[in-house]
Amino acid sequence: MQIKNSAVSMIIDAADEKELEEIKLQFLGKSGKLTLALKEITKVPIERRAAVGSLANDVKKTIEETIKNHESRIMNQESKTRTEKLDITAPGIKPAIGHLHLITQAVEEISEIFRHIGFTRVRYPEVEWDKYAFEDLNFPKNHPARDDWETFFIKQDPDPKKGPMILTPHTSSGQIREMERKNPPIRMLNIAKCYRRQSDVSHSPMFHQFEGLVVDKNISIAHLKGTLDYFVKSYFGEDRRSRIRPYHFQFTEPSFEVDVSCGMCKGHGCKLCKEGWLEMGGSGMVHPNVLRNGGIDPKEFTGFAFGWGVERVLMMKEGIKIDDLRFLYSSNLNFLEQF
Ligand code: PHE
Repeated sequence: MQIKNSAVSMIIDAADEKELEEIKLQFLGKSGKLTLALKEITKVPIERRAAVGSLANDVKKTIEETIKNHESRIMNQESKTRTEKLDITAPGIKPAIGHLHLITQAVEEISEIFRHIGFTRVRYPEVEWDKYAFEDLNFPKNHPARDDWETFFIKQDPDPKKGPMILTPHTSSGQIREMERKNPPIRMLNIAKCYRRQSDVSHSPMFHQFEGLVVDKNISIAHLKGTLDYFVKSYFGEDRRSRIRPYHFQFTEPSFEVDVSCGMCKGHGCKLCKEGWLEMGGSGMVHPNVLRNGGIDPKEFTGFAFGWGVERVLMMKEGIKIDDLRFLYSSNLNFLEQF
């Protein structure tokens, strides 16, 4: 009995195959404890010999079985640790990490550039009243200029004061909203989605604009031109220049179209730009009627505004890599992973 107990507890404690083998020898080997004990059976008086014999056999069987069970458990464990062995020096597996979408990257970059010169980033509703998108921006009722914006109208009864509801076709709708919310000095950067009924390689029905509005005492065209130059050099590079051309918008007077020197030919003229300049978007000095509609006295304050397309400046920066603006909305990883 003693032999059985000590053998079983030793077997259970055995850590590996080698130790188990030693225990086996110690009990069942040629001169093992149990083997020797069995030899002693002949010395037992004949009447007890059968009982002692069967007891000894039981002990032998138990020891053998315990060894067998424990052996398979140890083998399993060993093969597991062999395959799961951790090599901390092996190079890691790099997880596939994506990046922000191109447009989000551009929005962040543009915000950061204007933040440096004191512009506060805002965002106003995309579903907007006619009042903010047109009426208070000095568009006469039923004036054909409203057609330039190819507006989507929302099916619902017009508000008696604010008119019909629309999807805002430009971020200029934020101008009056900002004036209603804040007294001058104002330095606003409104970046938002805009909607127009259009679709071709350089237009999509939904796009982003960034709109600047500055209202303060003695603001002049020189401030506008300085801000344009600063943006163009910060965003496109030191070697790029900006120019303003006379244009017409209802809400600015005078109004300008802003061009940027072409990055491909450095302003000399090439296939992309024809005459060395790429058109970026509109700008101008805030019309006195617009200031008045926003509750600001145009005799005391003046201002400038500009509104450009995020996708447009992005394409002008990346040049030939984006030859169809609609790729930006395609979720095509082959395209997006290039950037
Ligand atoms: N809102 C005009 C557009 O979408 C751009 C613009 C903004 C022009 C501000 C002048 C001043 O085309």
